Amino acid sequence: MSLSIIVPCYNERANIAPMVAALDAALTGIDWEVVFVDDDSPDGTAQQARALAAQDRRVRCIRRVGRRGLSSAVIEGALSSSADYVAVIDGDMQHDETRLPAMLKAVTDGADLAIGSRHVAGGDNTGLASPLRVKLSNAGIRLAQMLAKAPVHDPMSGFFLLRRALFEQLAGRLTGQGFKILLDLMLASPRRLAIVEVPYKFRPRTAGESKLDALVLAQFAGLLIDKTLRGTIPLRFITFSLVGGVGVLINVLVLELARRFGMDFGQAQTLGTIVAMIANFQLNNQLTYRAQRLKGARAWRGLLVFLLVCGLGAIANIGIARALYAENHGGLLSGAAGAAISVVWNYAVSATLVWRVR
Ligand code: GDD
Ligand code: MN
Repeated sequence: MSLSIIVPCYNERANIAPMVAALDAALTGIDWEVVFVDDDSPDGTAQQARALAAQDRRVRCIRRVGRRGLSSAVIEGALSSSADYVAVIDGDMQHDETRLPAMLKAVTDGADLAIGSRHVAGGDNTGLASPLRVKLSNAGIRLAQMLAKAPVHDPMSGFFLLRRALFEQLAGRLTGQGFKILLDLMLASPRRLAIVEVPYKFRPRTAGESKLDALVLAQFAGLLIDKTLRGTIPLRFITFSLVGGVGVLINVLVLELARRFGMDFGQAQTLGTIVAMIANFQLNNQLTYRAQRLKGARAWRGLLVFLLVCGLGAIANIGIARALYAENHGGLLSGAAGAAISVVWNYAVSATLVWRVR
């Protein structure tokens, strides 16, 4: 086997068969396989891929359950390969598979990485759905170029090819968050990679829908922050702390409102704290722990445990702040130390007890 083509897909049922046919036409003379990595799409993408796999040994399917994410899907697909080279291509026919032989040649000729590029002569991005998408894409490219070690015209591309050995080598350093697996790979490399950009025309989508939403953009910001901090602080902890900050605002807001409606201070603060904790649970469940989001009865159980954990965190916060204050440390320092310790406690304990992160 010389080339594994990794295809992340979510709700792409209608694109699976055309994809295999297009690869078959484009890759004559190359020993290839395609690995569809599906996150348990409700539209039956995995069943469709398996039906084809039953007829054709070159087709494989990985079905992941309880998880979501383009980048992490690509990582798992690539790590399932035994081929010499791996390529990554979207499963919606927007990337031009006929460019794969040229990309393979660039790497067999010595490049570390071949990137399908919309921004070198001969490429274009007219397939982007709207002028807003074009603006977002261009802004992302500029940000990514500031961080990337190598000058690349299309660091936001999701279409690329490299030696499997190189992927394996970088795999342990990947963030694996969000959509930008190529950028993640480039930033993970300790040395400057020799990159060749192969032009392609980004096609418009004809079946299915784009999965890019506000959350994917937030994850992109997360990837950039994580890479800037070089992994010294876990990204989840940063998100958790930001959510905590939002919780403080909610607490103060509810406190003020409740007092205006005539509640006494103690009651109003209790109400504010409870509302803030519930909101924080929701936000963490949607954002921080999106990949293992709790639903239904498990969400209620999670909320209960979260309230208990944060309640203990609050008791620790007050206890530590009081003890420091009694030893004549300033009020601000004592309060901040108490709060910081309770955030670390809430984060560490809720990660294991509420969201069961391994
Ligand atoms: N397994 C899995 N899990 N696949 C996913 C997920 C997910 O959570 N989210 C998206 N995908 C799959 C889609 O089904 C599609 O095959 C591919 O990833 C790209 O998703 P789109 O929703 O079509 O993204 P896009 O068109 O906005 O952007 C893509 O193209 C850009 C241009 O090259 C992305 O690949 C970008 O990274 C890329 O820059
Ligand atoms: Mn797409």
